Amino acid sequence: MATEEENTGNVKRELEKVFDLALKATVPNETDVRPLIAACTAKFGDYQCNNAMGLWSKIKGKGTEFKGPQPVGQAIMKNLPPSEMIESCSVAGPGFVNVVLSKNWMAKNIQKMLVDGIETWAPKLRVKKAVVDFSSPNIAKEMHVGHLRSTIIGDSLARMLEFSNVEVLRRNHVGDWGTQFGMLIEYLFEKFPNSEDANETAIGELQEFYRRSKNRFDSDPAFKERAQQAVVRLQSGEPKYHEAWAQICEISRKEFDKVYKRLRVDLEEKGESFYNPYIPGVIDELSKQGLVEDSQGARVIFIEGVNIPLIIVKSDGGFNYASTDLAALWYRLNEEKAEWIIYVTDVGQQLHFDMVFSAAKRAGWLSADDSTYPKASHVGFGLVLGEDGKRLRTRFSEVVRLVDLLDEAKNRSKAVLIERGKDKEWTEEELEQTAEAVGYGAAKYFDLKNNRLTNYTFSFDQMLNDKGNTAVYLLYAHARICSIIRKSGKDIEELKKTGSLVLDHADERALGLHLLHFSEVIEEALTNLLPNVVCEYLYNLSEYFTRFYSNCQVVGSAEETSRLLLCEATATVMRKCFHLLGIVPVYKI
Ligand code: ARG
Repeated sequence: MATEEENTGNVKRELEKVFDLALKATVPNETDVRPLIAACTAKFGDYQCNNAMGLWSKIKGKGTEFKGPQPVGQAIMKNLPPSEMIESCSVAGPGFVNVVLSKNWMAKNIQKMLVDGIETWAPKLRVKKAVVDFSSPNIAKEMHVGHLRSTIIGDSLARMLEFSNVEVLRRNHVGDWGTQFGMLIEYLFEKFPNSEDANETAIGELQEFYRRSKNRFDSDPAFKERAQQAVVRLQSGEPKYHEAWAQICEISRKEFDKVYKRLRVDLEEKGESFYNPYIPGVIDELSKQGLVEDSQGARVIFIEGVNIPLIIVKSDGGFNYASTDLAALWYRLNEEKAEWIIYVTDVGQQLHFDMVFSAAKRAGWLSADDSTYPKASHVGFGLVLGEDGKRLRTRFSEVVRLVDLLDEAKNRSKAVLIERGKDKEWTEEELEQTAEAVGYGAAKYFDLKNNRLTNYTFSFDQMLNDKGNTAVYLLYAHARICSIIRKSGKDIEELKKTGSLVLDHADERALGLHLLHFSEVIEEALTNLLPNVVCEYLYNLSEYFTRFYSNCQVVGSAEETSRLLLCEATATVMRKCFHLLGIVPVYKI
């Protein structure tokens, strides 16, 4: 992922430009050398250039004047053009060039962001249009905690892409097709011979409806027979069957929408059924390319390195999950012209997507090389475990109902606010909104803060703890910064224009440097599709702020204006991080 144009908010990219010139001057004959810049972990500098060693091994046999990697590093440093970004440089070890940034430049940059907006710090990506396929529950089945993970992770990735000016198609690939509809439709006809009676309230819980129809299916051969017939009649487009199908989907959709509304997640439904008309053409195209073979009556694609083939037409002639995914991928690339297609599901589906992507690469739909577009990525995630270490379950149902989880998180945070007397201080509406922001925010953050591939143990107590790495702690930290600014009585908008920011104190400088890492951190999170990178950054930001605030007096000090601006910059970056994680910020607590 490379930049195309100027981005002053991205320090790493800015340094790359300067070091690129130095490298060209140092080794004019080496044309394909790209600057390797990284933030320093040690205290020799703020950033470092790591090119010298690699460069040395490239040139040492070619009669170079240099005597080793150290002199190469020295030369790179000497060849650096003058830059207002850089305060000083030094060479360490086998040629690392350490850079200390100019604190004036740093301060100016932060102030510029305050005036021009945090959008100027958005990563600049090469890709213009992406699909994020996420949430994607199955009709007539309740959404469960795995779908919660997909919804939260997918929304966050979509937000990061949108922030980076990528057009995002937020796709809900709901499971609205398949053989289970035969039994559902037949059961609907049986229960409601008069179709007008079959409304939402009469049908009630769809999950229960699904369970009962499944029981019928398993216990009554005649019913089973009729259900199988119903699938055929639905697929051939018989109106009565199509209407019943649409009715069942509509009821499910209303249930899902309740959850999306609570979580404030935008999604556009294009379910599996949408791609049905495209399947035959796509299979034709793949067959013409010679990719499709017969295997035990089925039509399959063999994938290198995988024992089992990808079945795209079942032996009974029917289509399956893979046929739909191939058609959807084709549609997204050719009709929607997306360049990056991202799928968010549990890791259990990794093999399925690997195979679909491999088939698409063989067909020439996707670039064979994952570093160029068009490309597809599977974003897998682990399980949510109960306190017993097993997959999260409740006593009464197989999976935890999502709505109950969210209600519980909200109610608990409301109880804490009441305990703190907020019900007497605030309006009922403020209390509700804050409880919701904190409760839902806590559930999201608790999920996003782990590397998505690791399983995590669900715990209300941990997720709602106001100390430690939780959304509650971070939201409170943000509210406290806002209250510092409010209590100063100063007009912060005015200060942005008239005041000036300086980073003289070591803790001011450390906080400022962390603020300047924002753009490259978001870019990294996007490149690797890892929202936890943003969480870690946000948590560290609050730590840097705490250190600054304990050692630097803000209100009433000689540096008040500058320090208020630093508070505002911290709050602004925190809010953007919350936004990217789908968390609603809280301004007072
Ligand atoms: N409905 C599927 C499930 O619940 C997820 C669909 C993911 N997206 C896709 N294009 N296959 O497991």
